Amino acid sequence: MRKKIVAGNWKMNLNKSEAEILYNDLESKSYPDDVEVIIAPASIYLDSFSNASNVSISSQDVSANSNGAFTGEFSAEMLSSINLRFAIVGHSERRTFHKETDLLIFQKVEMLLKHGITPIFCCGESLFDRESKNHFKVVKSQLSQILSNLSSEDFSKIVIAYEPVWAIGTGLTADPQDAQDMHFFVRGLILEAFGKDISDKTSILYGGSCKPSNSKELFSMKDIDGGLIGGASLDSESFESIINSF
Ligand code: PGA
Repeated sequence: MRKKIVAGNWKMNLNKSEAEILYNDLESKSYPDDVEVIIAPASIYLDSFSNASNVSISSQDVSANSNGAFTGEFSAEMLSSINLRFAIVGHSERRTFHKETDLLIFQKVEMLLKHGITPIFCCGESLFDRESKNHFKVVKSQLSQILSNLSSEDFSKIVIAYEPVWAIGTGLTADPQDAQDMHFFVRGLILEAFGKDISDKTSILYGGSCKPSNSKELFSMKDIDGGLIGGASLDSESFESIINSF
């Protein structure tokens, strides 16, 4: 009933010819009909890949502003003008290195929705939060802006990605049951805010060292609807194997 999604976040990797090789490889494969495959290349390549038909293309970020004197940024309207359907927002690397706040991330979500682009909204606790048993509280507060301030119609267009910060790029993966517990918790928050229909339909992806050796077990969990994949999405065989893990 929920859409299964595997999204590859290429981050700041691959020069133009490397990106083209990987893109062409992924475009030429066949995937299960019920899985949406998304790739998020660096922003300077988005336009050249925007005609993709076998995979969907996502931005890794967007500006919270509509236009004007914001050197180096790009707007939701620009993404929509090259027919992009997805954009990642609130990734922990943006939260950490660019000091992005929940409010700023919310403004980005609003911009994307205004331009018909699906936000892939990232949340996830640090190791400190988990060890101090504050992980549920932290994730709840990261979600609070979108849970409290969006209409149900707008919220129904969002994809959530739960990515424990301590698992991103570290080789450490959340125990599938711990990940399931968080996904169940997040779905419960959506249920409280927007009701059963929307909570049943919202895709919640897991991210953080997801790879072919653990994706099957993670994706078999009831509330895990796919993955946001970093490192393992840079290799077409690994990525394909993750896509085929449902
Ligand atoms: P990773 O990254 O798979 O390399 O841990 C995931 C992400 O940051 O989205």
